[in-house]
Amino acid sequence: MVIPHPARLDRRAGSFTPLGVHSGPGTDGPARLLAAYAHLPLVHSGPAVRLTLEPGFADEEYALDVTPEDAVLTATTEAGLLAGVQTVRQLLPRLDCLAVRDAPRLPWRGVLLDVARHFLPLAFLREFVDLLALHKFNVLHLHLTDDQGWRIEVHGWPRLTEIGAWRAESMVGAAGSGVFDGVPHGGFYTQRELRDLVAFAAARGVRIVPEIDLPGHVRAALAAYPELGNRPDVRLPVWTEWGISPDILGVHDGAFAFCRDVLTQVADVFPARHLHIGGDECPTTQWETSPVARAKAAALGLRSTAELHPWFLGELHRVVAGLGRQAVCWDETGHAAGGLPADLVVTAWRDAAHGTQAVARGHQVVMAPHTSTYFDYRQTEEPGEPPREPVTTLEDVYRFDPLAGGLPVSDGTRPGVLGTQAQLWTEHAPTPDHVRHLAFPRLCALAERAWSSPDRGYADFHQRLAGHLTRLRALGALPKERVRFAGAVPVPEKTLP
Ligand code: ACM
Repeated sequence: MVIPHPARLDRRAGSFTPLGVHSGPGTDGPARLLAAYAHLPLVHSGPAVRLTLEPGFADEEYALDVTPEDAVLTATTEAGLLAGVQTVRQLLPRLDCLAVRDAPRLPWRGVLLDVARHFLPLAFLREFVDLLALHKFNVLHLHLTDDQGWRIEVHGWPRLTEIGAWRAESMVGAAGSGVFDGVPHGGFYTQRELRDLVAFAAARGVRIVPEIDLPGHVRAALAAYPELGNRPDVRLPVWTEWGISPDILGVHDGAFAFCRDVLTQVADVFPARHLHIGGDECPTTQWETSPVARAKAAALGLRSTAELHPWFLGELHRVVAGLGRQAVCWDETGHAAGGLPADLVVTAWRDAAHGTQAVARGHQVVMAPHTSTYFDYRQTEEPGEPPREPVTTLEDVYRFDPLAGGLPVSDGTRPGVLGTQAQLWTEHAPTPDHVRHLAFPRLCALAERAWSSPDRGYADFHQRLAGHLTRLRALGALPKERVRFAGAVPVPEKTLP
């Protein structure tokens, strides 16, 4: 009943109840983690789960052998041991005798959590990271900045968090509703807090890919430093609405110095190879009327100021490469026209065909088509679900295949599919319980498609899910009570126009 299901699992007769965890040379971290999960001591002898490192396994691959006498978990890397630890965790406390040989289908198994639209407490981030590890997700894509909030401390730019981390109120319901809640909202993480989170995640085999959304989705930064935009004389509040804002960064030295400084500090806090630079939903209308932007486009020989968008991302890509990291950006419809460097990794969020086209253009692609992986979308027709369509059910998620059409898996150097990820946008999810409701059990289905091969079918998955939900409930992963989403309920009459 393990989720995601191991590549090979052969059952044998009998069972084994460990009384401790035995740590072989070099396995200290994973052994301690397993001991904590199992509430068992680290031991030198007796009936135990034994962790050993041996050559011969791929990066995240592991073997688990359970006999009536003991259980042996073997891998070549810490990542492999950590994956195996999560399997053992799901089999506890009494392990059925079995032989597992397991390795992931895809190298990038991610979940985006949007802490910009709603600030989420650090304790919840830790809980969430541990649940990602349980499902063998290895990437937390942390969406740290957006129009509605700037959530990371940046030295030398204090107003980003003094001003940019707070908004006066929030829109109720869908973008354009015109209804506001009148409740101030905000919060941010210090660099120290984020470093601690990085370490907590690394101990579980999860790397955090930070996103600084540029050059659009920057209203919170512009509220703090209007000179970064195209209208330095206009004072904008942190955005209280949802949707696409026309306010974007300017194409001038000050804006680039800002990007460089922020990305340098972000790279210092987050050691992951990948760093996300955003790039989505960037209307270029302000550049059309900006003399600076027009002059820049002309000097670069571009046909229009719209072409400054892929050019801007290319510049940020070079900054990130200079920091020894690999930039990732959202794949936009306009990028198909060209201009985006092929060695930028892209998150393909429009539809699956966009992802296929991006692979054809030579990119490494994280498949994230919104119709299957946007978990802010309602999951049933029930009242109280979020005001986001289309309905994306558990089965819809399971039936999404990131490699549909025979797409190649990328090894991290060649074009192809790096993996897939779920998106938890939080415009309509103000609390951890709202996020839990959106995340589970759909994350279980995506985990299975990202990790498991062969595909065992939805019915098989659904049968295993029943026991897994009991485990998730015991871990506090599910909301305690039925969650309702504002905007799905009728708007109070007095606030209607
Ligand atoms: C996005 O949904 N704007 C990536």
